[in-house]
Amino acid sequence: EKGGYDWFMLKEIDEQPRAVADTLLGRHDARGRLVLDEMRLSDGELRDIDKIVVIGCGTASYAGLVAKYAIEHWTRIPCEVELASEFRYRDPIVSRSTLVVAISQSGETADTLQAIRHARHQGAKVLAICNTNGSTIPRESDAVIYTHAGPEIAVASTKGFLTQIVACYLLGLYLAQVRGTKFGDEIASTVSELQRLPEGVQEVIGAAGQVRTLARDLADHRTFLFLGRHVGYPVALEGALKLKELAYLHAEGFAAGELKHGPIAVIEPGLPVFVIVPPRGRDQLHEKVVSNIQEIRARGARTIVLVEHGDDSVLPYADEVIRLPKAMTLLQPVLAAVPLQIFAAELATALGHDVDQPRNLAKSVTVE
Ligand code: F6R
Repeated sequence: EKGGYDWFMLKEIDEQPRAVADTLLGRHDARGRLVLDEMRLSDGELRDIDKIVVIGCGTASYAGLVAKYAIEHWTRIPCEVELASEFRYRDPIVSRSTLVVAISQSGETADTLQAIRHARHQGAKVLAICNTNGSTIPRESDAVIYTHAGPEIAVASTKGFLTQIVACYLLGLYLAQVRGTKFGDEIASTVSELQRLPEGVQEVIGAAGQVRTLARDLADHRTFLFLGRHVGYPVALEGALKLKELAYLHAEGFAAGELKHGPIAVIEPGLPVFVIVPPRGRDQLHEKVVSNIQEIRARGARTIVLVEHGDDSVLPYADEVIRLPKAMTLLQPVLAAVPLQIFAAELATALGHDVDQPRNLAKSVTVE
């Protein structure tokens, strides 16, 4: 049933264009207006929300970090992100006008489940973003947006992650539509950008050979760093997590702006550092990240730079350039995460590990 693949994970990586397309399917009309049928919260209830708290564990929490940037930008509703395992044991400030968004591929993660119970007990509304129909978390939630990724068998999440991010975009745009914080044509143009993502993901997958060769070249390294900024930061965290899980290596993701506050001290000659470069925009984000690459390269790091097509500003400081299709900054994570998944799977394979069933891990963490 692996359909000719060595690992389910590789099959699931390749299924991502379809999974993203399926998650978008039927969720907007021809004019680019969002339609969320399973949204059981009324427009009135959605208009009353004055705070959003996104919770999840592991990879799902990184999808939540991406959601924060998009939701606050599109809706102007304050949005926090917290690990479910922390939220459930604190005394969080939630009320009837708080929307708790619980992200879980399996819908059975113990910490996320206890966290939504904790939130509902205090009157908050809970919306689940989930991949598993009829699982416990959506059953105990007030509303649900299902990701239509299909079953995810490999322990390491891939299509689950991408579709969680897409579902968060749909939620953010839907809230913006209901609350009128974005004009209809702006929403429609973002929806058409979303529709181009499956093709973009396909293009990244098509260029996987380069990433696989790189993984084999770097298979004797024991430490890897990942830097990103804005929505590239959660992508850096996800790239590091994939490598820890699958290759059992030390890997860390940092917000690029934190370099000078500590992490730059660990840079030494030959250390592989992945950097996710945001698209050139009106802000200074892009040039800041380019100068970070320059700084670590000057200290001998081996820089592996993920950057969109046509952006040659990084070429003088990049040992390896991984090209990404052009996309809006907020949507770039869906593209940028993919080479990092492929890299981790290939490196783990080169090291002789079981990619689908890494040691010490379970697909669904139903105990604390
Ligand atoms: C990482 C991974 C885990 C899960 C986490 C949450 O590849 O698979 O970090 O993302 O255990 O699981 P769900 O989404 O099922 O709640």
